[in-house]
Amino acid sequence: MPWCFALLLAAAAGGAGWAGSEPAAAYVGWERCAPCHSELTEGWQTTRHAKAIDSLRKTGQENLPGCVECHVTGYEKDGGFIDCELTPEMAGVQCEACHGPAGGHVEDPMGVKLVRDAGEDVCRACHTEDQDPGFNYEEKTKGIHGD
Ligand code: HEC
Ligand code: HEC
Ligand code: HEC
Ligand code: HEC
Repeated sequence: MPWCFALLLAAAAGGAGWAGSEPAAAYVGWERCAPCHSELTEGWQTTRHAKAIDSLRKTGQENLPGCVECHVTGYEKDGGFIDCELTPEMAGVQCEACHGPAGGHVEDPMGVKLVRDAGEDVCRACHTEDQDPGFNYEEKTKGIHGD
């Protein structure tokens, strides 16, 4: 449960961590962000994160739990990815994988803040030492929403 760790960190930092005061926030998917964050959304669509499920499809592993946990958004969380048939819209590493579940924010963007700068620990839930040994946060954050 890597997000729990991130939540703890966010809470410890005293920030409005993901849903820190909004425990009921659910994942809603990137299409809900597009109307208000159109440039960032279009940019993100050009990134490998947006296409992460395609990497699994190549070998028919797109429904294997051990793979999807890092190639989808909100796996097994409220509103998050279940499988490719039930929740195709939650495939890929989307906005909420880094900014946290945004159910509250889409309803009240000024009132419910998200985390702006995810921080290395959020990335490290997937870019683990095993998976991505040379991961460098500063470098890898450039172009996070495309160029
Ligand atoms: C109805 C319009 C609207 C929608 C829908 C929306 N946002 Fe926002 N978002 C805003 C506005 C406005 C701000 C700036 C708020 C401010 O400056 O106080 C913002 C700010 C943010 C921020 C910066 C941190 C913060 O909360 O100020 C992030 C990250 C963010 N949005 C992510 C998302 C994501 C991810 C989605 C989709 C799941 C989304 N937004 C959907 C309007 C929206
Ligand atoms: C939910 C898991 C997950 C999270 C969280 C995540 N990533 Fe990724 N990231 C992936 C996966 C999976 C890929 C590979 C996508 C593909 O090509 O199929 C990837 C690819 C990338 C790439 C392109 C390949 C490379 O290594 O250059 C960059 C850059 C990147 N991630 C940066 C980040 C950064 C920075 C963060 C944190 C702010 C982050 N990621 C958070 C899963 C994640
Ligand atoms: C712990 C998180 C995690 C798990 C679990 C995971 N991946 Fe990934 N995967 C990543 C990250 C992060 C990247 C991007 C960085 C990299 O290329 O190493 C990636 C990249 C990939 C790529 C693109 C490689 C390339 O260079 O084009 C493929 C294909 C892939 N993963 C397949 C799988 C398969 C198949 C499984 C299950 C057996 C799996 N992944 C499980 C995190 C994960
Ligand atoms: C892999 C992680 C990751 C993904 C995926 C991601 N972001 Fe971000 N986002 C970040 C980071 C890190 C920052 C802070 C650094 C920066 O601005 O580049 C940020 C900053 C932002 C901001 C604040 C911008 C500003 O100028 O202050 C908004 C709004 C935002 N993201 C929305 C989105 C939306 C909408 C999506 C999906 C379409 C998305 N993000 C996808 C990591 C991510």
